[in-house]
Amino acid sequence: MPPTRTRTAVLVIGLLLCASLAGGARTPLEYIQDVQMAEGSAGAKEDPLLASTIFPLYDKLTAENIVPSLMNLFKELQKDIDELEASAPATWADLVDPYERLNDRLNLPWGIVTHLEGVKNSDALRAAMDQLNPLQVAVSQRLGQSSPLYQAFKLIRNNSTGLTEAQQRVLDGVIISAKLSGVDLEVAVPEGEDKGKARLQATNRFNDITQQLSTLSNNFSNNALDATAAFKLLITDKKDLDGLPGSFLAQAAQRASNATAENGPWLITLDAPTYTSVMSYADNRTLREEVYRAYISRASSGAADNTPVIEQMMALRQEQAHLAGYSNAAEYFMANKMATPQTAMDLIEQLREASYNTAAKELKDLRQFAASQNYTETLMNWDIAYWAQKQQQALFNLTDEDVRPYLPLPRVLEGLFALAKRLFNATVEAADGEVPVWDPSVRFFRLYRNGELKAHFYLDSFARPGEKSAGAWQSSMVGQSALLAAPGEKLRMPVAVLVTNQSPPVGDKPSLMTMYEVVTLFHEFGHGLQHMLTSETDVLVSGIAGIEQDAVEQPSQFLERWAHEKPVLLSFARHYQTNESMPDDLVNKVEATRNYRSGTDTLRQLFYALIDLKIHSKYNPQPGVFLHQTDLYKDVIAKTTVMAPLPEDRFLCTFTHIFSGGYASGYYGYKWAQVMSIDGFSAFQEVGMDNADAIAKEGLKYRDTILSLGGARAPALVFQDFRGRPASTTPILRDENLLQTDSGSVQTQSLVSAAISQRAN
Ligand SMILES: *[C@@H]1O[C@H](CO)[C@@H](O)[C@H](O)[C@H]1NC(C)=O
Ligand SMILES: *[C@@H]1O[C@H](CO)[C@@H](O)[C@H](O)[C@H]1NC(C)=O
Ligand SMILES: *[C@@H]1O[C@H](CO)[C@@H](O)[C@H](O)[C@H]1NC(C)=O
Ligand SMILES: *[C@@H]1O[C@H](CO)[C@@H](O)[C@H](O)[C@H]1NC(C)=O
Ligand SMILES: *[C@@H]1O[C@H](CO)[C@@H](O)[C@H](O)[C@H]1NC(C)=O
Ligand SMILES: *[C@@H]1O[C@H](CO)[C@@H](O)[C@H](O)[C@H]1NC(C)=O
Ligand SMILES: *[C@@H]1O[C@H](CO)[C@@H](O)[C@H](O)[C@H]1NC(C)=O
Ligand SMILES: *[C@@H]1O[C@H](CO)[C@@H](O)[C@H](O)[C@H]1NC(C)=O
Ligand SMILES: *[C@@H]1O[C@H](CO)[C@@H](O)[C@H](O)[C@H]1NC(C)=O
Ligand SMILES: [Zn+2]
Repeated sequence: MPPTRTRTAVLVIGLLLCASLAGGARTPLEYIQDVQMAEGSAGAKEDPLLASTIFPLYDKLTAENIVPSLMNLFKELQKDIDELEASAPATWADLVDPYERLNDRLNLPWGIVTHLEGVKNSDALRAAMDQLNPLQVAVSQRLGQSSPLYQAFKLIRNNSTGLTEAQQRVLDGVIISAKLSGVDLEVAVPEGEDKGKARLQATNRFNDITQQLSTLSNNFSNNALDATAAFKLLITDKKDLDGLPGSFLAQAAQRASNATAENGPWLITLDAPTYTSVMSYADNRTLREEVYRAYISRASSGAADNTPVIEQMMALRQEQAHLAGYSNAAEYFMANKMATPQTAMDLIEQLREASYNTAAKELKDLRQFAASQNYTETLMNWDIAYWAQKQQQALFNLTDEDVRPYLPLPRVLEGLFALAKRLFNATVEAADGEVPVWDPSVRFFRLYRNGELKAHFYLDSFARPGEKSAGAWQSSMVGQSALLAAPGEKLRMPVAVLVTNQSPPVGDKPSLMTMYEVVTLFHEFGHGLQHMLTSETDVLVSGIAGIEQDAVEQPSQFLERWAHEKPVLLSFARHYQTNESMPDDLVNKVEATRNYRSGTDTLRQLFYALIDLKIHSKYNPQPGVFLHQTDLYKDVIAKTTVMAPLPEDRFLCTFTHIFSGGYASGYYGYKWAQVMSIDGFSAFQEVGMDNADAIAKEGLKYRDTILSLGGARAPALVFQDFRGRPASTTPILRDENLLQTDSGSVQTQSLVSAAISQRAN
């Protein structure tokens, strides 16, 4: 699974509703003051949501005032869509501009509310969302699936003379997503039948499937959650938990009622952190086996069985793909991606060939290591994480607690911002207090490019259990737009929100981070930079908007890689009390662990990616034959695992990414994008990391291509603009130590390829 959850909300952007505001470039502070001065007349008091959609009045928003505001807005928008549809003028100014305004009026306030749902949830807000969700879906479907608008968009698109590349991409994006939502079905009209009737029937069936799939995908995630929650193992003898750290005992006791960390009882559950700890640390092998078997069979039987859900979903997905004119579900899901099913499979095969032997060797080494520790039995699936943990400890002797004191959040931020300055000539300046925030710990910043104000962002760093979702993400709250600039201003500047979940400061002690948290912060900032440093001015393709899903993780994984660059790490890793630099041997260990079992990790990702692509392109559900029994499944296992899953393994029953998470036929995208990220990074290595001038020059080139061009140009072309050639897999394989074979020879020749190249159309 991917290391971090990234919600890259591709929000489209908003007309400033408070038209009484003065023109001229205003600071956020002036902006807020203008809104507040206008309160009496513009109704900001009753409707704080719509009064300020760029820098929201987070101090005034409540579930109570959000509901009537949005109800009213949805009604207005429905009316405005009716009007636009009725005329559907086929010119850019009369159709696309109003369309973008409509989108923005919907997306900006809706983005604020869903943002609050993620970072400041409450029972009241949840109830409000239950009420609002169906209405929001109705409006956005109206806008996205309108046949008159679709026809008009196609007319404009047909006449490419006079359209810029960006405008063509805007139209292509709108057209393909309308097509995928069923406005333009392939209808076979039987001899003698009425064409209109056949079309209507097909449309009804398509919409019916959409509805069913939405229910089923809910069923899927609910079953996965319920099945995970259903397992409870109460441990009463402390000896059974030997090997597990004290912090684990404390949490396990907290989950059991009337318990203490010291005396128990302790409750073991299947949530990811608990499961991972048990598998990595529990000395009791029987316990590990029991927990492992429960984990891999979640949601595969009983009340929360996802087996029939998957079969129904697969059948419906294939049928829907056919109705929309695609030969299978993979073709359908990838119609708006950078890769095709074939190029994605080609990439997987290349990486698989490179990583398989390494993964096999890593398993052999692990067996040897276990034997060296006088372990005599065969290593089974439930032994791998345990012995890997021990092997890692023996090899590197490194724990999170060793690095934390050297990674206080304030220093890490300084280091991150210094890197942005060095690479992209972008400077960050704190502007806390200029605008309202949703929690006192949230920070606010200005971002400058070449010394000129370019964007703003919020940073919400700390976990707040109960009201803030877990994980980390970047939300593109406000996109850059010329059309949607306030009166008298040339451009509306982007606003981003970065969210992570690290431990809060305690007293005078700052938040001390693990390396994983540092990398996560760099990752989200990478998304943020692409959103904020954009040079595009059409909101549908500026920043992250309009970028293919399998290219979106490129800048994020690129920036991630910098956190592991020794001089970068050394530039900010200093002890929070003594200001002493992180000792050299600690830095070296951090660097060395990066590629520990990289062959195994790569192969595991390829296993998920390949099964996802195969079942969406080749699988035809047959009653009574479940996926796990098919040759297709066995073939994937033979190719992409060095230790096969148990025959009773039912991981597909909890593979939420592809059955309820928007990654159907898209899981490969993490690797696909990472190949570009690391190839991009290798451009800097090539000019020499200590050549400051060359690095700065390369950085500006990266900024002005990959970070600037957004969705306005095909990602393969953007990559080529930066790198001067198509992306290659060689850099990522070299970076992860996968170029070296057993015999020591290097396989570069067969691996350099243009697999990641542009789609034919
Ligand atoms: C676009 O042009 C092609 C050929 O130039 C034509 O066949 C097609 O009908 C046109 N589509 C629209 C929507 O006008
Ligand atoms: C195509 O667009 C150009 C520029 O807007 C315009 O001059 C021309 O008449 C259009 N052609 C058609 C066939 O609509
Ligand atoms: C290991 O765990 C199993 C099941 O949880 C338990 O029955 C057994 O007594 C434990 N053995 C030891 C040595 O702790
Ligand atoms: C909690 O534990 C104590 C001591 O073991 C016991 O006396 C008490 O009855 C327990 N309470 C509950 C609610 O189980
Ligand atoms: C999915 O959930 C709905 C209720 O939300 C239920 O009626 C339906 O039977 C479920 N379908 C499956 C296949 O579990
Ligand atoms: C393995 O067994 C040998 C021989 O009994 C012993 O010398 C050695 O210390 C043991 N190693 C470990 C890691 O327990
Ligand atoms: C592991 O590292 C700690 C300090 O981080 C040190 O005290 C200990 O001796 C090391 N153990 C080994 C086996 O090197
Ligand atoms: C970088 O930004 C500074 C202002 O912060 C500006 O003076 C300088 O010209 C910029 N450098 C380049 C290469 O644009
Ligand atoms: C910590 O050390 C760095 C590098 O030597 C120095 O630039 C910085 O001023 C020091 N900070 C404090 C608070 O002493
Ligand atoms: Zn991401």
